[in-house]
Amino acid sequence: HHIPMSVKALSESPGLTSIPSDYAFASAADDYDLPLYTKDHDSIPVIDFSLLLSEDPGRRSKAIVQLGRACQDWGFFMVINHGIPETLMEAIIGVCRGFFDLSEDDKREFHAKHVLDPIRFGTSFNASVEKVFFWRDFLKVMVHPKFHSPSKPENFSDVLSEYCEKVRNLVKGLLGGISESLGLEWEYLSKVLDMESSLQILTANLYPPCPQPELAMGMPPHSDHGLLTMLVQNGIGGLQVFHGGKWVMVDAIPGAFLVNTGDHLEIATNGKYKSVLHRAVVNNHATRMSISVASGPSPDTLVSPIEGLLEQTGNRAAYLGMKYKDYLELQQSNVLDGKSCLDRVK
Ligand code: SIN
Ligand code: FE2
Repeated sequence: HHIPMSVKALSESPGLTSIPSDYAFASAADDYDLPLYTKDHDSIPVIDFSLLLSEDPGRRSKAIVQLGRACQDWGFFMVINHGIPETLMEAIIGVCRGFFDLSEDDKREFHAKHVLDPIRFGTSFNASVEKVFFWRDFLKVMVHPKFHSPSKPENFSDVLSEYCEKVRNLVKGLLGGISESLGLEWEYLSKVLDMESSLQILTANLYPPCPQPELAMGMPPHSDHGLLTMLVQNGIGGLQVFHGGKWVMVDAIPGAFLVNTGDHLEIATNGKYKSVLHRAVVNNHATRMSISVASGPSPDTLVSPIEGLLEQTGNRAAYLGMKYKDYLELQQSNVLDGKSCLDRVK
């Protein structure tokens, strides 16, 4: 079937009261474990970033234990007191909104040929291989080790570069705390994964109002590539995390980052910190935006279980080594489906 231009354009068609069959999961209940609108709002861990840097050794080590527990029990947590101004978080959402508001012709310029192209505007996840499309438009930009940016809208690249640099520093701190939670030195993970050349990808997601939200999906259940994903959203909920055998709705604390562990943290820790399944549902009343920044090792790093962690994780490496960029290409070229990509390196 034909690949749509954008869900935004579709959602703006006059008098749209139902979704085209291309977007409807007839058996969504089976495919995606409905009901979509769970009432569960479990107690998601909250990490106070400032405590990870505290001068007080007691408070610091307590915060590190908490961080390790959040990674092990949830693979998902919120970060407060992270030092990134809320105005900058709002600014990145604003300029991404500006990008989606460009004309369809302007955006078409950023349609990519290859999944590893540094700037990629598209719809759904991988429309060329999907049977049913997701109710989502996206822009993906590789911002590090080499910085890229669409040239429009005008102030996009300045905000992008400032935001991503600050997020990189925050990730460095979180990885320091995570290293220590594993009994390693603060710098350990950053060094072995060559985070100086970290591949950092910003993805802006746009989920326009959907006339039949119960039939559509914004993003199917999946885990993320990379080590950590840092997410902010425009105040409209829709993210759910799989925890304790059920889907938990995420109510974000304003100004907090939503963080989840990715496949490469699972591989590096030999399964101690597993990547977490999450999905995005849509609604019929408001446009939802989320901006994620995925941080991985350098593109050429061969990621395999870390030697120093084998002893505490059963002595046997449970994952095969693969270059990060090869994994990324594999994940992005297929249908997005749970942890199916990670299963291929087991
Ligand atoms: C994602 O999983 O990358 C996006 C989730 C969201 O939109 O909240
Ligand atoms: Fe994700």
